[in-house]
Amino acid sequence: MTTTPLFLRNTWYYALPGEQLKLGQTLSKTLLSEPIVFSRDCSGIVCAKRDETKSYPTCEVQGNIWIYMSDSDSQPQESVPQVPGFENQSYQAVETIRFPCDVDHAVVGLIDPAHIAFVHQAWWWRSPQILNEVIKSFEPSLYGFTMQRHPLEQQTFFYRLVGRNPHIEISFQLPGIRIEQVTTEKHKVCNLTAITPISDTETEETTIFYTTLAWFPLLKPLLLSFTRSFLNQDREILIKQQMGLQHDPPLTLVGDADAQSRWYYRLKAEFARSQMQGRPFVNPIKAQTLHWRS
Ligand SMILES: [Fe+2]
Repeated sequence: MTTTPLFLRNTWYYALPGEQLKLGQTLSKTLLSEPIVFSRDCSGIVCAKRDETKSYPTCEVQGNIWIYMSDSDSQPQESVPQVPGFENQSYQAVETIRFPCDVDHAVVGLIDPAHIAFVHQAWWWRSPQILNEVIKSFEPSLYGFTMQRHPLEQQTFFYRLVGRNPHIEISFQLPGIRIEQVTTEKHKVCNLTAITPISDTETEETTIFYTTLAWFPLLKPLLLSFTRSFLNQDREILIKQQMGLQHDPPLTLVGDADAQSRWYYRLKAEFARSQMQGRPFVNPIKAQTLHWRS
């Protein structure tokens, strides 16, 4: 039996917001422990090079620069993850944070549904005293799984402003991309969260917002400050978790609340195995309904 590598290769990773790389400029950034130099020529085309001999395919869509981290000269088979309904449009807000942990802990922290009640406590969000029974249906989707579209029960004041009858759908795909779509009778508010490994011990998380709300710019400072406090709460927990992990405790993922984390590890293992064996990826996730309290 072989172990799954920490970094998957031959897949698209979120690199940086396009606005960070101006015309005719270069920017260096470490990704997957490799120093990469991004450059944008005078016609706007973005390139990514590791050194004189190695360059990586890049793609700029919806205001974001993605990089295809191949392990040879292989070319991307799949297109870059995109937020549906916002084709050829840039984002309206973006927030980035770095976590002092590896990519797996960052992804599990992102998709763990039970942590919300315990990690994200704020008066404007929800009270920690109430744990509700949650039942959600999932189905396999491209390199991941999707929580099927359903009515949004817990409405924060932001979603009350968005419109009536909100529904939510959340999809996750390797290597660490989560797309949340909230639709109301009139509007659509989406966010794409991308996890990018910087090194074995550092991971970047970028949250990017897309909306059809004309008044969104008015609320943007408030939303970004909420997002920042959310991300900082995640960061605090990951720092505490790293302290606990120094003692090498046995890690177990139990019950339906941890099912998505188990799926992540299974998807990752299958992705690595399929490449090693030179065969197509076979999604190991089966359609399923999960129950947990949050
Ligand atoms: Fe969180």
